[in-house]
Amino acid sequence: MSTGAPPTRLRPPARLRGELRVPGDKSISHRALLLNSIATGAARITGAGLGADCRSTLRNLRQLGVKIDEPGDGKLVVHGRGLAGLREAEDTLDCGNSGTTMRLLLGVLAGLPFSSTVTGDKSLRGRPMGRITDPLRQMGARISGRNDGRKAPLAVEGGELHGIEYKMPVASAQLKSSLLLAGLAAKGRTVLHQTAVSRDHTELMLAAQGVAVQSDGLTLTIEGGQPASAVDIDVPGDVSSAAFWMIAAAIHPDADLTLRNVGINPTRAGVLAVLRRMRADIQIEEIGGGPEPVADIRIRSSQLCATRIGGTEIPTLIDELPALALAATQAEGATEVRDAAELRVKESDRIAVTATGLRHLGADIQELDDGFIINGPTPLVGAAVDGHDDHRLAMSLGVGSLIATGETVLHGADCVDVSYPGFWEQLARIGSQHD
Ligand code: S3P
Repeated sequence: MSTGAPPTRLRPPARLRGELRVPGDKSISHRALLLNSIATGAARITGAGLGADCRSTLRNLRQLGVKIDEPGDGKLVVHGRGLAGLREAEDTLDCGNSGTTMRLLLGVLAGLPFSSTVTGDKSLRGRPMGRITDPLRQMGARISGRNDGRKAPLAVEGGELHGIEYKMPVASAQLKSSLLLAGLAAKGRTVLHQTAVSRDHTELMLAAQGVAVQSDGLTLTIEGGQPASAVDIDVPGDVSSAAFWMIAAAIHPDADLTLRNVGINPTRAGVLAVLRRMRADIQIEEIGGGPEPVADIRIRSSQLCATRIGGTEIPTLIDELPALALAATQAEGATEVRDAAELRVKESDRIAVTATGLRHLGADIQELDDGFIINGPTPLVGAAVDGHDDHRLAMSLGVGSLIATGETVLHGADCVDVSYPGFWEQLARIGSQHD
């Protein structure tokens, strides 16, 4: 969160060069911690992204009695206790800014025989939790809180759950994961019908732990009561973090960046397909198989063209839309983003704050209920802009400063620590390197 630190002043470098490693995938890191905590045995996790969001998950799991060692070098060892081994926390579980922490944790807590209270920062307390608590209540959970149990702080009186068949109203991996975790603790079978495919890290990790999740098109089925065994996880780099550098290189006139070891799970890496459609000069070399594919990505200055982004593609790139909107300001033609109303209930109203921020830098961007229309290319000009306590907006504006003439003065730059500690240092480094 912003600490009221002085604004960050940014100037466009003449060239961008270098090789980067981004933090470990945030979505996979949360799951590696949580799913191994409710499994039996010890799991070694390497490469986890340990920004403030994943730290919230880690802290809460420790409060629930899970021993998690940090031997150094970014390694973690989770000593799983099995679902039944979790213990009532003595205090409120504070999820900070992290929607994934709160939503996945609610799915676990609902089925455990003790009381818990979850809360978060101002942004998280304003985000919709009814999408989670409504179906959990249908499964038998007792949850109360503000807005009839649809906004945090939330009190969970955990207990026995039963499986349900449920049509999910939003294509949300957080909702899906929460219900799969509740389904694992429930009696009987839980069947989830999705409207579109969302990131499948939970399903992949559960499978690696020996838990069967049947997938039939858009329908997932899990039988309750299956035991999960700890699994070691080597977390790949976060494609959502890498996207900032891909877009930086694509829009900068003299850029050549290589990103090492980036996770490119197709349910998650829609940004790659969109950048290709926009004719970005991008090379993807797959370097690892396994359930979570990994690649090195090289990207250079590009003449981008406009595209249309919408429909079932949206969940595969939802977090990259602020940065893609920036890319569209440099693309020839009108880029239209539709079907992305979910952006309004992220860490901020990302449709509103992205449009405002980019407009301040000189973009021609029109806000829609469910997206944007961006006409490009427009030259960007340095200005005073605000990160609105939203890490992805702050990083998008920071990348915008790389091509904005003059000085960009970014307020609230420190909120990037939520997902990407070290972002500003890397930004400075790639702009100061010479061949
Ligand atoms: C996430 C899923 C997405 C994404 C969020 C992380 C996850 O949210 O926006 O940053 O790790 O499951 P929704 O599933 O709610 O769309």
